[in-house]
Amino acid sequence: MLKIAILTGSTRPKRVNIQVAKWVLEEARKRDDAEYTLIDIKDINLPLLDEDLPAGYGQYNQPHTRAWADIIRPFDGYVLVTPEYNRSTSAALKNALDYLYAEWNNKAVGFVGYGSAQGVRAVQHLRQIVGELQMADVREAVQLSVFTDFTDNGSIFKPAPMHLESLGTMLTQLNRWTSALKSLRG
Ligand SMILES: Cc1cc2nc3c(=O)[nH]c(=O)nc-3n(C[C@H](O)[C@H](O)[C@H](O)COP(=O)(O)O)c2cc1C
Repeated sequence: MLKIAILTGSTRPKRVNIQVAKWVLEEARKRDDAEYTLIDIKDINLPLLDEDLPAGYGQYNQPHTRAWADIIRPFDGYVLVTPEYNRSTSAALKNALDYLYAEWNNKAVGFVGYGSAQGVRAVQHLRQIVGELQMADVREAVQLSVFTDFTDNGSIFKPAPMHLESLGTMLTQLNRWTSALKSLRG
């Protein structure tokens, strides 16, 4: 069974991210193509990157880096749930990605973005970042608007029904590439 992790992308006290991530998890678990797990980076509580060497060297000195690597390593693919902050992804998610290298390599990744501009620019930036991590990013992404997919001044997540189709397409593409890349990793 393929193992796919859904990663949160916000650590703000009043974040909506966790609502979006739980929706992704709930919908994904209705499928029978992979084992889906939610990983909340707020719980991981990583400091700003404090390793001596870039992650590509594979020499993780800090206990929190090794613990993070142990969490990420077992998964075959990932869904990154990102807010848009200043036309990009969040610093917290970028920091969590920067910590590791080999653990991300040759694995597939899909995106769920949200914001006033539907998180499009956050997802575009993430596509550049994951390329450097040797990840395969699938075409379809779920792009949610704070104006139409959230109520109560953007605090309650109520996704328009049309997003279910794009979530389904993204997960199907993610599973196909996740499956193909597993044999590449040997
Ligand atoms: C620091 C900051 C910068 C933001 N910049 C943008 C932006 O450039 N584009 C956008 O569409 N939304 C922007 N927003 C709105 C967020 O996408 C929106 O508040 C979202 O709910 C934040 O996600 P979170 O609650 O899960 O942290 C910004 C929000 C914050 C806190």
